[in-house]
Amino acid sequence: MKVTLVCKSVSHGNTQRVAEAMGQVLGARIVAPADIDPAELADCDLVGFGSGIFYQSFHPELRRFVASLPTRHQGKAFVFCTSGFAEPPFRRYVTALTESLERKGFDVVDAFDCRGLDTMLPFSLVGGVSKGHPDTTDLAAARAFAENLQARTTTTR
Ligand SMILES: Cc1cc2nc3c(=O)[nH]c(=O)nc-3n(C[C@H](O)[C@H](O)[C@H](O)COP(=O)(O)O)c2cc1C
Repeated sequence: MKVTLVCKSVSHGNTQRVAEAMGQVLGARIVAPADIDPAELADCDLVGFGSGIFYQSFHPELRRFVASLPTRHQGKAFVFCTSGFAEPPFRRYVTALTESLERKGFDVVDAFDCRGLDTMLPFSLVGGVSKGHPDTTDLAAARAFAENLQARTTTTR
């Protein structure tokens, strides 16, 4: 199974650690959006798209990359993120990225999120929120998520 994780992790490497935990299970290549030609995704069985959350959205570089993808992609995808807080009901950024990918033809099969150290002002004044995350429990959840995904993708392909 060919798997690529497109990951933009700029703040503390939080999302990169999650990508690496998933990538170990999936045998995936992990790349930043700037380091991959969109055409390279064409022959992937599964593509993960992830970043930290900034001002209630996925990182703009990841969103621009998705917008640049050709339409009529055939294949499965999932979305992952880390953030200081859980997704609020008034700003469904996971759904927004999922819908962008679906408009490109991806079959988006799942999403994963966990907390990540957040040092945005004013939280940095107290050392940040979600300190210590992603922690070993978060990374174990990321691995379990990937194992589940792998089992489902392999059997439904
Ligand atoms: C400028 C800035 C804006 C942020 N905005 C949000 C936000 O809107 N919601 C949230 O839950 N976390 C927010 N965060 C926290 C990040 O999503 C969190 O630190 C994430 O784990 C960063 O991932 P990374 O280390 O992979 O870049 C923000 C952090 C920064 C520095």
